[in-house]
Amino acid sequence: MPLAEMKDIWRTYRMGSTLLHALRGVSFSIEQGQMISIMGPSGSGKSTLLNLLGCLDTPTRGEYILGGRNVAQLDDNELSEIRSTEIGFIFQSYNLITQLNVVENIEIPLYYQGMSERESYERAVELAERVGLSQRLTHVPTELSGGERQRVGVARALASSPLIVLADEPTGNLDTKTGNQILTLLHQLNDEGVTMIVVTHDPRVAAETERTLRLVDGQLQDGTDGT
Ligand SMILES: Nc1ncnc2c1ncn2[C@@H]1O[C@H](COP(=O)(O)OP(=O)(O)OP(=O)(O)O)[C@@H](O)[C@H]1O
Ligand SMILES: [Mg+2]
Repeated sequence: MPLAEMKDIWRTYRMGSTLLHALRGVSFSIEQGQMISIMGPSGSGKSTLLNLLGCLDTPTRGEYILGGRNVAQLDDNELSEIRSTEIGFIFQSYNLITQLNVVENIEIPLYYQGMSERESYERAVELAERVGLSQRLTHVPTELSGGERQRVGVARALASSPLIVLADEPTGNLDTKTGNQILTLLHQLNDEGVTMIVVTHDPRVAAETERTLRLVDGQLQDGTDGT
């Protein structure tokens, strides 16, 4: 059974009296342990698709099965539970909390899971080490470089041991060299078994993933769907 499966997914936004079909019948599935990229022009529906995959949003039509559950049938509480335990998000602009240091930022998802302070501290330190930040534990975001900030973002995404990690342009704010270091880190985590979906404008990033989904006007281009 695939880890995640989308069947004929539509996402329609209502704008006054007009309907905007951001996704128009998208079908594909992801196996556990895969690393796939999503490409496509601006406005083609990439972020919309990622939001659905991450249960931040639900489809207008179609079925999304994640870890054996039909997401459309879940209520808001169940969706938020899935988001906090089974999905890790990595953002282009890092989305760190400026008042919190590296360890505290990584601890956020653990706090929401109700993990004890001591356990969550230890886990966060371990994750900070895993992403190469052992010398930066008490730095706040303004005391970090862009690449270091994104390392915090990656560690935070891993904190809850999610089923799947979703990244929307994770290297979009970084120079080529720093971006490559983050990509190397993502590949390394994938080699360790983390399932990952990366939205990117960069063909070089896509070329390094085992599979690329290409969106055009809310539809997958021929030949990129299925498995
Ligand atoms: N909340 C919303 N309400 C109405 N329309 C939306 C909403 N979010 C996205 N759209 C529209 O849906 C389409 C797809 O948007 P989306 O953000 O998924 O594109 P994208 O591929 O991520 O683009 P980019 O590369 O610029 O980030 C666009 O036409 C956009 O204007
Ligand atoms: Mg987008």
